[in-house]
Amino acid sequence: MATYEHPYPSPELSAAHPFVVHAHEPVDDNTMRDRALSFHALMDGRRSVRMFDDRPVPRELIETAICTASTAPSGAHMQPWTFVAISAPNVKQQIREAAEEEERTNYLDNRMNEEWQAALAPLGTDHHKEFLEVAPWLVVLFEQRFGETDDGSKKTHYYVKESVGIAAGMFVTALHQMGLATLPHTPSPMRFLQRVLDRPETERPFVLFPVGHPLPGVQVPDLARKPLDEVAVFL
Ligand SMILES: Cc1cc2nc3c(=O)[nH]c(=O)nc-3n(C[C@H](O)[C@H](O)[C@H](O)COP(=O)(O)O)c2cc1C
Repeated sequence: MATYEHPYPSPELSAAHPFVVHAHEPVDDNTMRDRALSFHALMDGRRSVRMFDDRPVPRELIETAICTASTAPSGAHMQPWTFVAISAPNVKQQIREAAEEEERTNYLDNRMNEEWQAALAPLGTDHHKEFLEVAPWLVVLFEQRFGETDDGSKKTHYYVKESVGIAAGMFVTALHQMGLATLPHTPSPMRFLQRVLDRPETERPFVLFPVGHPLPGVQVPDLARKPLDEVAVFL
């Protein structure tokens, strides 16, 4: 077992702030390898889908996925995120209409430059966002640019985008693990979500997730993922 010259927490630190022993079950290498390979296989089967079934999804599942996402690490443990979960048809309709209006400008009036449009060509995305009304849930993840202290003054949040990005990834992972599908959707600019969902000025929409069961037989672009040597360097 490694020994430390400067143990954490120091006696002064643990006198000033509460600490607990982390409950961790040791796992042998073979078990870890088995777990790692099966989790990779599970996650490698995740795909973004753009056609959802209208089959309802119990609210409890959305709540649990949000709780899982909210276990994400965050700068100074500020957890600077708000998940707004929508199943109300009239709100979904408003979001679809506003998203399609922005996307029409992006796709049809060339607000996206040629390079961007060329990158999207293999995905075949366009300004039609019917899935925003068909999916049983829309979950909009907002980043909290700053928070509020008990006396109502401004509280600084640290590494907001990094923290919210990790929470977003864990949300996608939680949904896939339970058998649901999603699509990280960014109908840019997304400011309309703040207005439609009546969120405070301190928040900014980060990503919009339609959530549900994939439409049976749904097609996805035939994409390959980069091999390990293109995404990792070991020293
Ligand atoms: C931050 C982010 C924004 C995205 N925005 C959109 C979007 O607005 N519309 C869309 O159809 N797909 C969007 N995607 C989905 C990507 O196109 C998709 O993840 C990528 O093509 C890889 O496919 P896969 O998710 O099936 O592996 C977005 C993904 C991310 C991570």
